[in-house]
Amino acid sequence: MSKKTALITGVTGQDGSYLTELLLSKGYEVHGILRRASTFNTSRIDGIRKDTIYGNPPNEGNPFFLHYGDLGDASNLARLIGRIQPDEIYNLAAQSHVRVSFDIPEYTTDITATGTIRLLEAIREVGIKPRFYQASSSEMYGLVQQIPQTETTPFYPRSPYGCAKVFSYWVTVNYRESYGLHASNGILFNHESPRRGESFVTRKITRGAAHIKLGLQDKLFLGNLDARRDWGYAKEYVDAMWRILQQPEPDDYVIATNETHTIRECLEVAFARVELDWKNHVEIDPRYYRPAEVDILIGDYSKAKRKLGWEPRTKFKELIELMVDADLKLIHDQLAGKVNRQD
Ligand code: NAP
Ligand code: GDD
Repeated sequence: MSKKTALITGVTGQDGSYLTELLLSKGYEVHGILRRASTFNTSRIDGIRKDTIYGNPPNEGNPFFLHYGDLGDASNLARLIGRIQPDEIYNLAAQSHVRVSFDIPEYTTDITATGTIRLLEAIREVGIKPRFYQASSSEMYGLVQQIPQTETTPFYPRSPYGCAKVFSYWVTVNYRESYGLHASNGILFNHESPRRGESFVTRKITRGAAHIKLGLQDKLFLGNLDARRDWGYAKEYVDAMWRILQQPEPDDYVIATNETHTIRECLEVAFARVELDWKNHVEIDPRYYRPAEVDILIGDYSKAKRKLGWEPRTKFKELIELMVDADLKLIHDQLAGKVNRQD
């Protein structure tokens, strides 16, 4: 069988970097869309191939390519899809921060909602039929209508981000039904790792605990400690994305751990790992409250287990502890002047 080609939007993000590694390990040729920034934004993928080419031309024997692009630029998306002719497209790019989506709702809608339809239209314009994965989110359940949440639980989003993801979910279903596209939604619950963005709560806590332990910081400022999330390990969740696109028929799947924990529990595990009491170091800052909160998320992944053979392996405590350990190592390496790469 000839080598498969995948195109990943959001390749520089947490999930994009793990998915790139997974697909390369399976022998794929991987193309990623990189948006232009005034500073380097490739730290999560720099370790994959030192000789990665930015843009073109392709480098003989190198199966990983980066192309400048943006979900706000439709003509660029069509040009790239036409040139790459991917077998699979993973749409992971988004303005993905829920709190920030209240500050920049219009931009969030443009990228996280309209960006998806730009990509789907680019596929139609080029006239190919790649398999399409949409990074849907448990944020769509928002004010939850059922516990635990399944593929049939009604959506009730609580943020501009959640609303944008609901649009992208339905447009993915619509293009499947309207044009026979192999288009699927992975409804992923929160998933974390040492590569998680520093402003999401788990990473903020594990990084904060590590800094406090090493005497580099004294206080950690947080918002609502009572919210509950279903947290899994990102490295395992990208495997579910790939499995979804290998199914003969497109469909929608919940990917979760079926466990829920509070932010307070996350603090307990993280600070216990560095032998400190979190109560001596955490202060509440109302700036981190959201205009509308999602109080509880817990997903039922039984369909994914049954149809994809997927289930989570790393559970909450182990996940938070491995993140604390990675942050301690990262800080030690930075202090020692070693390369600033997140593992
Ligand atoms: P992330 O770390 O925030 O990565 C987002 C990616 O999107 C980055 O590569 C970012 O580029 C890129 N991006 C942002 N705006 C863009 C634009 N205008 N054009 C092109 N690319 C753009 O997110 P993640 O945690 O890996 O999540 C991946 C996807 O899954 C996102 O769509 C997210 O909403 C969704 N999701 C995440 C979770 C979770 O718990 N992690 C759960 C459910 C769904 P830069 O690196 O340049 O910023
Ligand atoms: N970010 C952040 N910072 N969150 C805080 C803080 C803080 O200082 N203090 C408390 N929290 C609470 C938030 O109010 C929220 O209830 C919870 O911690 C989780 O916040 P985040 O880690 O920012 O994640 P999220 O659940 O809002 O969104 C993430 O998961 C979604 C899937 O459910 C993002 O990755 C989304 O892109 C993803 O779709």
